Amino acid sequence: EEAFKLRVGLLNWYDHHHRELPWRKTFKQQHTLQQEEEEEEVQKRAYGVWVSEVMLQQTQVQTVIPYYNRWMLKWPTIHHLSLASLEEVNEMWAGLGYYRRARFLLEGAKQVVAEGGKIPKMASMLRKIPGIGDYTAGAIASIAFNEVVPVVDGNVVRVIARLKALSTNPKKSVTVKRFWKLAAEVVDPIRPGDFNQALMELGATLCTPLNPSCSSCPSSEICQALSISKRDSSVAVTDY
Ligand code: ADE
Repeated sequence: EEAFKLRVGLLNWYDHHHRELPWRKTFKQQHTLQQEEEEEEVQKRAYGVWVSEVMLQQTQVQTVIPYYNRWMLKWPTIHHLSLASLEEVNEMWAGLGYYRRARFLLEGAKQVVAEGGKIPKMASMLRKIPGIGDYTAGAIASIAFNEVVPVVDGNVVRVIARLKALSTNPKKSVTVKRFWKLAAEVVDPIRPGDFNQALMELGATLCTPLNPSCSSCPSSEICQALSISKRDSSVAVTDY
């Protein structure tokens, strides 16, 4: 089955080639922890995923790293962040642009803490937090809590479009809806967070808009855009 092949190839590639990023630091082995400590670790991880995914929305990974590290030193938990002022948060954000993102993070942290301090585990609940849309909700739920939900950003649209040789117009909401549906059909049921990150990472590193590295791609065998371009030299992978 196609979806099965995609999952196996992509996860294996991700296990060997994923970038070491500060928000991907492995947390303590779960079996060594008491249940309460484990819950705390998972919450810390969810907060880190939240901060990093919001920063990554309009900004390149390499730019985000130092900002993320400074942010987490100043506000290591959502409780710390909830006590910050808007001025402090904007100051920390200086240079990243789109300052609404920083204000929403602060508002979101305040709301979560006001409601008991636990970041919700499901995308549908995360969506109710200020500043959290489908993308951020899917990222936090799948990466931090293993909920089997998709995540679709520009990279994921391009990767899926090429795999299935579908034309795209990301400005059309019907197109975006269609890709959320397609992504939901392929997401790995055991490792949804790694699978989602692998799709994004593939789009950022190999399946790039220009000059994609199809010869290194773990999904080249099942890629319809590549297969068509091999048969018909007037069609290129970059047409998708
Ligand atoms: N781009 C945005 N979030 C990402 C993630 N978690 N992994 C890879 N690329 C990303």
